[in-house]
Amino acid sequence: MLSSEALDELMICRLDSARRSVEPCTIVIFGASGDLTSRKLIPALYDLHQQKLLPSDYRIIGFARSAKADDVWRKELLAAFEKLPRSRRVEPGAWKEFASKVHYCRGDIDDGDSFQKLKTLVAGFGAGPLSHNLLFYLAISPSRFGQAVAQLCQAGLLCRDDPHGWQRVVVEKPFGHDLASARGLNHELTRHAHEDQIFRIDHYLGKETVQNLLTFRFSNALFEPLWSRNSVDHVQITVSESLGVGRRGGYYEEAGALRDMVQNHILQVMSLVTMEPPVSLEAEPIRDEKVKLIESIRAIPPEQVSRMVVRGQYAAGAVNGAAQAAYRHEPLVRPDSNVETYVALKLHVDNWRWSGVPFYVRTGKCLPLSASEVRVQFRPTPNVLFAARCGPRLDANSVTIRLQPNEGITMRINGKVPGASMQIRPVRMHFSYDAEFGAYTPEAYERLLLDAMAGDATLFLRRDEVEAAWTLVDSIRAGWDGVPMGEREFYPAGTWGPKSSEDLLARSGHAWREPQPLQRTNPAPDRAP
Ligand code: BG6
Repeated sequence: MLSSEALDELMICRLDSARRSVEPCTIVIFGASGDLTSRKLIPALYDLHQQKLLPSDYRIIGFARSAKADDVWRKELLAAFEKLPRSRRVEPGAWKEFASKVHYCRGDIDDGDSFQKLKTLVAGFGAGPLSHNLLFYLAISPSRFGQAVAQLCQAGLLCRDDPHGWQRVVVEKPFGHDLASARGLNHELTRHAHEDQIFRIDHYLGKETVQNLLTFRFSNALFEPLWSRNSVDHVQITVSESLGVGRRGGYYEEAGALRDMVQNHILQVMSLVTMEPPVSLEAEPIRDEKVKLIESIRAIPPEQVSRMVVRGQYAAGAVNGAAQAAYRHEPLVRPDSNVETYVALKLHVDNWRWSGVPFYVRTGKCLPLSASEVRVQFRPTPNVLFAARCGPRLDANSVTIRLQPNEGITMRINGKVPGASMQIRPVRMHFSYDAEFGAYTPEAYERLLLDAMAGDATLFLRRDEVEAAWTLVDSIRAGWDGVPMGEREFYPAGTWGPKSSEDLLARSGHAWREPQPLQRTNPAPDRAP
């Protein structure tokens, strides 16, 4: 007889065989001296190298303005890597092998000769795929995207149809700062490349737990029949961060929480939680469903913003016992800044499935803890059996999908407290990634880089998705235009945002549920005598 582990093993459904293999290629990173390169991209590529997931042959070229030799850049990268708080350390042998494939090209995006130099470097890798299969990663300011792509095209490094290989461009967020600028960027990029050569990153889509949303919904018979207005009372999406803006004040002054988190990460998560089943797991059907969903979110006209949206900005306070300065006192922030570091919204999805179900969404900096989760709150049962004893206090069920940390899923159901008396209280059932699959979850960038090399655009944003998201966000921003932050919009660092965010839910009889640290055992005082 087979053990239950052996049976589980038989049931593993491996989808990777359907995935395109990764051909040898060269990855060129523009913005090589930036933080993203040393903190995310190079560590992700190294991890992929160590796991033998990169193609049989590859090269990495860093392109930036300062002059340095290959070896100097390699040393800088290693030093930065070693400073990262990581469970996996650099293994000297593997690093040496990896670093031998890493090169540096001094260049300026405005200078055509720099691109000729880059071309010569790439050509030096031989006449094979390393000089034709090229992945250009633009980790630079969006205002430079158009120029970089035009130069690549002019130098003959980026071709629309290359019979000898492929060229792709990966662009980092922010993808514009409003609809008009996003359209402008899209226009500039598609002048030189086909839409299917452009990979717009949203690193949330690379997170394991975000990828699991579709698996959770569409591979289990338990949840999907309940996943609609018939059973769901409301949904809460919280993406809270305990850190402030730190050294990113300059960027944040132009962004704010709505542009930085809602326009991209949160709307992406929300679309995966609520979209219709795609006809297949290919990139286009999935993206088609996401766009439909984002387009079904009811626009909030400027005159309704004060009723449907709460913004806030952190004032001085303490987060986890450490003093935190006010946002207005952070480096590179204007002392009278009106930029929001917190936003909460009440959204409606005007489609057949979700009509009438409120979606409460919030994100902020300097909140009490860092946690991202989706909570689907179900309608209460017709409380005829227990009403006499429990009254309206009988809890309604919920499913909480914890995106990070403590990655997992918790169901809250009611249970009888053991003992002679009839007491009912909520109990939880947990699925934890840690317990089930072990501690290591790949970094989002590992998956995204690999997919870009394989030409799989499923986890990247399509032009129309980005534009639909900006349409929603622009209308909200128009409601804030020229309206200074009021006294009630400031919240002390280390609290859950302005008080009015509670009112936003209370008006419909709802309340925020704060993300809870995972409890592995039931607390003793709740136990029946
Ligand atoms: C980035 C935002 O896109 O996402 C940051 O610009 C934010 O402001 C970060 O802190 C959050 O990402 P994660 O993966 O730490 O949740």
